[in-house]
Formats: sequence, structure tokens, C-alpha cells
Amino acid sequence: MKTTTISVILAAGQGTRMNSELPKVLHSLLGRSMAWFTVQASRQATGAQPVMVIGHGAEAVRQNLDGEAQFVIQDPQLGTGHAVQQAKPILQGRSDFILVTYADMPLLTSATLSRLIQAQGSHSGPMTMLTVIADDPRGFGRVVRGSDGKVQAIVEEAGVTPEQLTIRELNAGVYCFTADWLWQALERIPLSPKGEYYLTDLVGIAVVEGLSVQALTVEDPAEVIGINTRVHLAEAEAALRSRLNKAWMLAGVTMIDPVATYIETDVTIGRDTVIWPNTYLHGKTEVGEACVLGPNTILRDTRIGNRCKVLASVLEGALLEDDVDMGPFGHLRKGTHLARGVHLGNFGEVKNSYLGPGTKMGHFSYIGDATIGPDVNIGCGTVTCNYGMDGKKNLTEIGEGAFIGSDTMLVAPVKVGEGAATGSGAVVTKDVPPYTLVVGVPARPLRMLEKRDSC
Ligand code: UD1
Ligand code: CA
Repeated sequence: MKTTTISVILAAGQGTRMNSELPKVLHSLLGRSMAWFTVQASRQATGAQPVMVIGHGAEAVRQNLDGEAQFVIQDPQLGTGHAVQQAKPILQGRSDFILVTYADMPLLTSATLSRLIQAQGSHSGPMTMLTVIADDPRGFGRVVRGSDGKVQAIVEEAGVTPEQLTIRELNAGVYCFTADWLWQALERIPLSPKGEYYLTDLVGIAVVEGLSVQALTVEDPAEVIGINTRVHLAEAEAALRSRLNKAWMLAGVTMIDPVATYIETDVTIGRDTVIWPNTYLHGKTEVGEACVLGPNTILRDTRIGNRCKVLASVLEGALLEDDVDMGPFGHLRKGTHLARGVHLGNFGEVKNSYLGPGTKMGHFSYIGDATIGPDVNIGCGTVTCNYGMDGKKNLTEIGEGAFIGSDTMLVAPVKVGEGAATGSGAVVTKDVPPYTLVVGVPARPLRMLEKRDSC
């Protein structure tokens, strides 16, 4: 019969050493909260939604992980044993095994958790604990073994004897228990001198009952680095970043300098894309194949097609079709849609606008709230004056093949017809009919244009 496991994630502690208003487990790494990583790893390993024990900043944690976990409140917080006990009313009788882990270990992988569950599955005793061999004890509990090599107890840093000080095997704080045993053994944890119930006392309880406690040593000690300070946070983020960047490189993405390439967890990148240093891909960004990004580029919640080039630019909430090339020093804001083959040169800003296929905007322009057809030439210094004196954002429309002369002010709402043109320095306050050249301030028709006329 297939066994079932549900995980309990402890996250009620305050995390005082973060020195922060924000609950510790909501500090972010690669764009996601610390707790989110733990939830993902647990869910993958168990195939079930985890139960998270929350206390400090409970409401904020609940909101951050809405739908990802079930929550139970621990108040007051009387230690790790007491914390697990809070999950008993909703979990007792629901699974064969209970996996216990902390929300402040974002580097812990689902592979390691799966190994722990498997190890407990083939073990006769009631629990398997994850241990780590390290020279720096970092305040972890020491694993005390008897002369027969069997695990006898976990001794916390505060209660350690001089002899036990030299023990290099440490308790990672991650366990897999037989559920039936756990739920009744929790009731027997004695109150510590500090007034807390330590989960680690379960080891001693099992041993006294003549039951064996199994230890599984983690292969990569970095996985169990718990985060207590912002120094640890930065270290953990660097480790996660390196892991994620390696995965992208193996998936066919070139990184000129992976250490200086910042990609958040939800981003996707196509094969043969090249990323130059100091490039940041945030949020729900999607990048196609064979693009060249950076150096010095920031993309947030932006979708990019294939073969696009983005140099030293900032893109937020934008959509680029294939073969777009832009930068340096461009800024695309929310609602920008650049169709296939658009070219944006230096110092361009576009907001809430569509630029049709093949349209070019070479230098120093601002386009906001505009719909621009294909093959339009937007001259240097063109501005859509979209912000009316009434505070409203007004629309600009430019038809296919229009030619907007350098330094044209398009005073919206305004339409420039297909094939029309504006002279340099024109201030366009009235709609321009198709195939008409307008010039001056305010702009007036000068003459009609032949189709494909050049101005
Ligand atoms: C614990 C272990 C220690 C182990 C270490 C690994 C105990 C007694 N000690 O110590 O052997 O080496 O983890 O990191 O378990 N929490 C609650 N409610 C509470 C207390 C804690 O939810 O009442 C949560 C915290 O938010 C945190 C986790 O449990 O996520 C660990 O608590 P913490 O107090 O940091 O335990 P350690 O001292 O690190
Ligand atoms: Ca800790």
C-alpha cells in the first residue's frame, strides 16, 4: 500500500535577529518569500499541501502564501515541540508519516526531503532525523551517539558538556516521524528549564522506549543553512541564485558572468539567449530564444519574443514580439506592446502604447497612450503630449507609414493619417488627413503627398 506523508512547517518564531518589521520568513530571495521555498520543497516531496505553524506576523504570512499551505496558529510560542503539537488537531489520522521542517531553510531541496521520507519508510523505529557534519556548530543541537553508534539524544548548545562540544554531527531540525507515534509522544515532552517544549526531546523519549532513531546525513551542508540574520539571507540568496543560474545554463542559456546575473524564480528563458552582466529578470518575465539581453538591463513582468536585443534598458510590464531591438537607455512602461521588428534607439520612453511592425523610433522620444501603425518613422525628439490640462490621458493615433519629423509635438487627442508627415518642430493640435504634410506651430497642411513620397 502506498504511504502518505504531510509536512508541518514551523514558522511561528519572531526572527528577532533580522532586525525588521517584516516577519523573518517573509524576507525575499529571488523574488519569493523565504517561506515560499520551503512550501514548494515540502509539497514536491510529499505530494500534499503542507501545514504551516504561524504566530509572529501570522496574517502577513497567511496572505503571502494564500492557497499554498494550510495554517495553524501557535500562541504563545512555547518551543518547537509545542509548535508541532498545534498541527495535531487537523492532521491526526490523515497520514502515515509527518515531515517536520522549518520555514527559514530555503535551500533545502525536495530531493533531500524525499530521501528523508524514504529512509523513514524503510526504518523500523519511529523517526528519522536529518543531520549535518560541520566544523562550525552555528548554534545547532549536537547529535549524541552511544558506543554502539546509535543516536541517543540531541543536546542543545546551552546544555552541552565540554566533551560534547567537539561533536561535529549536528541536528538540522528536519525530521520524518511515524504519525501515530509522533502524536502521542508529543504529549510526553517535558517542560524545559526555559519554559519550552523541545521537539528534540523526542529522540530521548524514543530511546527510553527502546525504539531506534535513525539519522540521515545531508550531502550538501549548504542545504540546511537556516537564516537568522540578513547576512545569512544574502548568503542564501547567492547560493539559490547560483543554483538557478546553473540550471538555466544547462538548459541552453549563455551567461557571460553568472555571478552578476539576477534571475528570479518565476522567470523563463529560451535557448541560445545570451545574458550580459548586471541584468535583472524580475517577476513573471518570459524571454524567447536567441535574444541578447544587457549588459545593465532590467526586465520586470515583461514578455519578449525570439531574437530580440535589449541593451542597457528598463522594461516593465511590456510585450515585445520577435526581432525587436532596443537601447541603450530605453524605458518601456506598463502596457507597451512593440510588434515584430520594431527598433527603439537611445533615450526612448514608451507607455501604454502599441508600435506596429517595423516602426522605428531612433532617438529621444516619449510615446504614451498611442496606437501607431506599421512602418512609421518617429523622428528624434517626438513627444506625445498626452496629459491634458484636465488631468486626463489623451490618445494619439498614427497611421501606417506615417513620417513624424524631428521634434514634433503631438498634442493629444490627435490622429495622424496613413502616409501623412509632419515637418520638424511641428506642433500638431488637429488631426492630420492621410497623405498630407503639415508644418509649423500650430501645424497646418502644406501639401498633399504621393504614396511613397519622401520628405
Ligand atoms: C532548533 C533545534 C536544534 C537544531 C536547530 C537547527 C530545538 C529545540 N532545537 O534550534 O537542535 O539544531 O533547530 O536549526 O528544536 N518555532 C516555532 N514555534 C516555537 C519555536 C520555534 O514555530 O515556539 C519555529 C521558528 O520559527 C523556527 C524553527 O521553529 O522556524 C526553529 O526554531 P528556533 O528557535 O530557531 O530553534 P533553534 O534554536 O534554531
Ligand atoms: Ca534557528
